[in-house]
Amino acid sequence: MTVRVPAKVNLQLSVGPIRDDGYHDLVNVFHAVSLFDEVTAEPSTGVEVAVEAAPGSEVAVEDVPTDGSNLAARAARLVATRLGVEPAVSLRIRKAIPVAGGMAGGSADAAAALLACARLWDSADEPVLSKDDLLELGAELGSDVPFALLGGTAIGLGRGERLTPALTRGVFHWVFATADGGLSTPAVYAECDRLREAHGEKVAWPEVSEELMTALATGDSKALGAALHNDLQPAALMLRSPLRRTLTTGMDLGAIGALVSGSGPTCAFLADSEEHAAELAAALSGVGVAKSVVRASGAVPGATII
Ligand code: C5P
Repeated sequence: MTVRVPAKVNLQLSVGPIRDDGYHDLVNVFHAVSLFDEVTAEPSTGVEVAVEAAPGSEVAVEDVPTDGSNLAARAARLVATRLGVEPAVSLRIRKAIPVAGGMAGGSADAAAALLACARLWDSADEPVLSKDDLLELGAELGSDVPFALLGGTAIGLGRGERLTPALTRGVFHWVFATADGGLSTPAVYAECDRLREAHGEKVAWPEVSEELMTALATGDSKALGAALHNDLQPAALMLRSPLRRTLTTGMDLGAIGALVSGSGPTCAFLADSEEHAAELAAALSGVGVAKSVVRASGAVPGATII
């Protein structure tokens, strides 16, 4: 059983006040892009995880844990518990999504493992686990996991796990600049809180951007470029200052929008067309501000059995 699952970029990430449980209420507009991991699940004796880089990708697979703490392994155990079966599965994860890159690679692998194990162990005729059940299990594993199951473009509220699909038109073309070394998501949120406190900022309740929704619904890439917003970006730039240059270089080279993806350090650049994305990717590769430069388009479907 092999599942293909996309990376995401956040078109809007508005971070509200910190909650009692340590999470932040968000408006998180997720957009799934055509950069995919694949997870293959096969019957085995216990939960085993192996990770490899997809051919041609420069993903730092050595940074992914292969023990029980791997989010895909936890997903497999969660499905087994729900179905009352032994968690006896070997998971082979083939990665193209950057590790700890702000593109929800770990969450994507967990979503893929949920779907693969459900298909492996659930009854084909009368499945116990519905799509909604998988979304719920996903939310137990991480805030971004449900979106990796859903795909497309969606507004995430709460921790980001309460999803509503967004109306979009056409295809958007992206260029991603990856960086050496990941950023820890909790550290970036903590830095965001610290910066806000240091500046005495009053944290507003996050609202969905109307400009963004209109840009998506009309397929207007220039308007989308102007509406991109990430509240975590100042924190990511504070923790990794070279990203500032990556962003300005991409804009100087003609991107119609640029932002840090999620908690970073991957930077996302929007292009006007497929040709423009190819030109922008070539130009960005030439100036050496990124570990690697990858093109992708969105939106694409969520975790899918192939
Ligand atoms: O849900 P997930 O495990 O992916 O979240 C990782 C970390 O990101 C959390 O431990 C928390 O520090 C931070 N986070 C947050 N508010 C959110 C989502 C994540 O503070 N809405």
